[in-house]
Amino acid sequence: MTLTSDPKAKNPQELDWNNLGFNYMNLPYRYRAYWRDGEWRDAGLTEDANVTISEGSTSLHYGQEVFEGLKAYRCKDGSINLFRPDQNAKRLQKSCERLMMPQVPVDMFISALKQVVKANEDYVPPYGTGATLYLRPYLIGVGGNIGVHPAQEYIFSIFAMPVGSYFKGGLTPTNFVASEYDRAAHKGTGASKVGGNYAASLFPGKLAHDAGFSDCIYLDPIEHKKIEEVGSANFFGITKDGKFVTPKSPSILPSVTKYSLLYLAEKRFGMETEQGDIYIDQLDHFAEAGACGTAAVISPIGGFKYGDHFHVFYSETEVGPVTHKLYDELTGIQFGDRKAPTGWIEKV
Ligand SMILES: Cc1ncc(COP(=O)(O)O)c(C=O)c1O
Repeated sequence: MTLTSDPKAKNPQELDWNNLGFNYMNLPYRYRAYWRDGEWRDAGLTEDANVTISEGSTSLHYGQEVFEGLKAYRCKDGSINLFRPDQNAKRLQKSCERLMMPQVPVDMFISALKQVVKANEDYVPPYGTGATLYLRPYLIGVGGNIGVHPAQEYIFSIFAMPVGSYFKGGLTPTNFVASEYDRAAHKGTGASKVGGNYAASLFPGKLAHDAGFSDCIYLDPIEHKKIEEVGSANFFGITKDGKFVTPKSPSILPSVTKYSLLYLAEKRFGMETEQGDIYIDQLDHFAEAGACGTAAVISPIGGFKYGDHFHVFYSETEVGPVTHKLYDELTGIQFGDRKAPTGWIEKV
């Protein structure tokens, strides 16, 4: 019996690009490389969507797994953009360092991304639909190795799937709730993109969804007084006097989107920016708030429930003007309609 028989994706012509959601699809090609005896070997594309590994693999038992997420964007002229893939490559290297895994060189990472996008090019959604090709690089420890030690062998792979918006609303505000749980400890693995962080977030995420919220927002794991991040995105707020503020903490994932917004807010819109503390009892300082990330893009936060309080930032139904402006600039750059800062766009 096999539990790994995902059907092949529909033909691209049969896909409804405007209603994709965020779902796995078994596209024709993915990239694989194997680490053995201190080097990456046998790198290239494969049609096999299944990964067969030893039952004694560290990735199965001890969570020795790291991953990334980024997108390919179809431009008006038909060309395809990758958005700051070097930043994902570097973050993957940091995650690998934290979990004692071999690093993937930046050039190899970017070349692998391009191979996957080109091989599945028909699945890069058309310009104007807002949909994109999501790329999921990951690295796992493999080989029989049941002691709690780093594996001797690793697989690095990248697969892809066309996606629409991650949160149902897209650019329509949705509501979030503060979690009573923590996703990561201050000196734990929160700043690394490791599978275990997400396993820990499944239950709090379910509680939030069951209660009718888009997702939960984690508070600082020490005192539960400050906002840390959303389950799958960073948090930002726009103060009533127009400052872009985002939490600074060792247990949140350094979001490529967040750093891009910090840059755009300051350099393109002349806004003051700050990475600092956002106390949940001082939310009145903010005129707008949002969740930002590759999958979330910018998802406005309408209301935020913490304890018995329910705070509405800008509106539960309308997107705030600064959030909208940042969204237009960011997505304009990603889809090639607005000028990108040097080095942000890598053409496939
Ligand atoms: C926990 C978490 N925070 C933040 C982000 C946003 O990061 P990025 O903007 O690099 O996608 C993600 C998504 O990758 C995430 O999983």
